[in-house]
Amino acid sequence: MIFPTGPGRDLVLNNCLSCHGIVRIVTMQRTQNQWQYVKRIMRPRVSPLSDADANSLFAYLAAHFNDAKPVPPLPAWFLDMSPW
Ligand code: HEC
Repeated sequence: MIFPTGPGRDLVLNNCLSCHGIVRIVTMQRTQNQWQYVKRIMRPRVSPLSDADANSLFAYLAAHFNDAKPVPPLPAWFLDMSPW
């Protein structure tokens, strides 16, 4: 499963994939600082979300996709066809 179950998971799936795919979110192995940067630039794009939901969403991403975790195994065909 690419997105492990946990608080914030559904918020990501429901709010972050309308403009771009998952590849840039899950394969970059961002540090905690880099996630702070992503939060700053993507927070305005999900402005209807409450601050509590936004915090939960980005805490989930920073916890599961970071420089201490392996890149999730995405098949080559998926990477080829995915909108970056
Ligand atoms: C309204 C459209 C839109 C939504 C919704 C959106 N994004 Fe983005 N995202 C973009 C665009 C466009 C870019 C390309 C960089 C830019 O132009 O700012 C981007 C870039 C990114 C990047 C790469 C940033 C980098 O420079 O390394 C990440 C990671 C990302 N988005 C994550 C998210 C997350 C997480 C969410 C949900 C909270 C989200 N995006 C919601 C439009 C969107």
